[in-house]
Amino acid sequence: MGFKISSSLNILLLLVAISQSGANLDTHYYDKTCPQAENIIYQVVRNATIYDPKVPARILRMFFHDCFIRGCDASVLLDSTPTNKAEKDGPPNVSLAAFYVIDDAKTKLEQSCPKTVSCADIIAIAARDVVLLSGGPNWSVLKGRKDGRISRANETINLPAPSSNTSQLIQSFSQRGLSAKDLVALSGGHTLGFSHCASFEARLRNFSSTHDSDPTLNPQFTTDLKGKCPKPNTDRNAGQFLDSTSSVFDNDYYRRVVGGKGVFVSDQSLLGDYRTRWMVEAFARDQGLFFGEFARAMVRLGSVGVVENGEVRKNCRVVN
Ligand code: HEM
Ligand SMILES: *[C@@H]1O[C@H](CO)[C@@H](O)[C@H](O)[C@H]1NC(C)=O
Ligand SMILES: *[C@@H]1O[C@H](CO)[C@@H](O)[C@H](O)[C@H]1NC(C)=O
Ligand SMILES: *[C@@H]1O[C@H](CO)[C@@H](O)[C@H](O)[C@H]1NC(C)=O
Ligand SMILES: *[C@@H]1O[C@H](CO)[C@@H](O)[C@H](O)[C@H]1NC(C)=O
Ligand SMILES: *[C@@H]1O[C@H](CO)[C@@H](O)[C@H](O)[C@H]1NC(C)=O
Ligand SMILES: *[C@@H]1O[C@H](CO)[C@@H](O)[C@H](O)[C@H]1NC(C)=O
Repeated sequence: MGFKISSSLNILLLLVAISQSGANLDTHYYDKTCPQAENIIYQVVRNATIYDPKVPARILRMFFHDCFIRGCDASVLLDSTPTNKAEKDGPPNVSLAAFYVIDDAKTKLEQSCPKTVSCADIIAIAARDVVLLSGGPNWSVLKGRKDGRISRANETINLPAPSSNTSQLIQSFSQRGLSAKDLVALSGGHTLGFSHCASFEARLRNFSSTHDSDPTLNPQFTTDLKGKCPKPNTDRNAGQFLDSTSSVFDNDYYRRVVGGKGVFVSDQSLLGDYRTRWMVEAFARDQGLFFGEFARAMVRLGSVGVVENGEVRKNCRVVN
């Protein structure tokens, strides 16, 4: 009885804690204080995408990175200072870029509605915009996040590694209140973008004591990847697109995983684990299903560890 009471109390406290983290978020948050905020951000993101087609992938990954480290608090945007090495200078930062797009949006927002729209909300809105601009689903973005004041390079170790298996991924996501379904849907973000060789090269040669290459890889794809990442490799920019239609947001990522053409161990392991395989197969068959679940999961990702007692930065790169 005592156990029952305390465990349901714990569950209650947990539920309160989780819902509180999203309690202040609201789709209408800026309706009175900055009604043009989303339009300003959309125009900046759209213009930047026309000039640089890598922008959508960069911004989508930036949102994931931000929310997984210290919650969605724009800690990923802070620059290092003489006394602090920031997240953006931590190890897996090769594809962190396009910060200038957020800066442009912030500059325009500060002109229209000073000290109102947080940098964390700008990332969340821009992440929705890049998906929409790439042909993906639309959703209403919850807003009202505050910006954090801390960003530490050493904390990027808490991002899931591309060598992770599904058990490790499920654990990493569940630590942030995200489910296995969120994991599979959000991994569909790899329908956009590119990876450098370092993130998947270990699968290609001398993989294990029994297999020279990862046996879950399609053999033809293994050969292709070896060609892209020769040994020795003098091209620092060498790598592979994560999807055959890497600037179109579609469900091709899942079809490739089903065909043994997931670029990372983390992608391919979703097919190998009974807990996630059925979802990969369902998303591969049904793009509409994927779009709906992706949109829902992005809203959940955007509610991870929301900061309530932070500030609205004037410049996204420095604390006020
Ligand atoms: C499930 C765990 C995940 C792992 C292990 C992972 C890992 C990676 C790695 C290693 C790269 C390539 C970095 C490089 O070498 O350049 C990458 C790229 C990317 N990731 Fe993920 N990721 C995960 C989840 C996500 C999520 C949830 C999203 C967004 C919803 C996302 C969006 C992207 C995008 C768009 C790129 C391409 C970036 C570019 O082309 O600039 N990833 N990811
Ligand atoms: C559009 O983007 C380009 C490239 O970043 C930039 O030079 C230009 O000033 C932008 N135009 C507007 C209207 O924001
Ligand atoms: C990544 O980190 C390195 C080393 O700290 C740094 O020199 C580089 O500017 C960082 N890249 C980005 C995009 O911030
Ligand atoms: C996307 O959804 C938002 C919020 O529901 C809506 O205001 C906007 O018009 C939609 N955009 C498009 C292009 O459908
Ligand atoms: C990062 O470094 C800070 C001190 O600079 C330390 O307090 C913290 O525990 C470290 N975090 C991780 C994940 O190593
Ligand atoms: C996942 O990886 C961890 C760490 O390498 C390992 O202990 C575990 O057995 C793996 N799980 C599965 C299902 O392969
Ligand atoms: C392959 O891996 C084994 C075990 O990690 C190592 O002893 C060996 O030197 C590696 N061979 C090559 C060619 O890198």
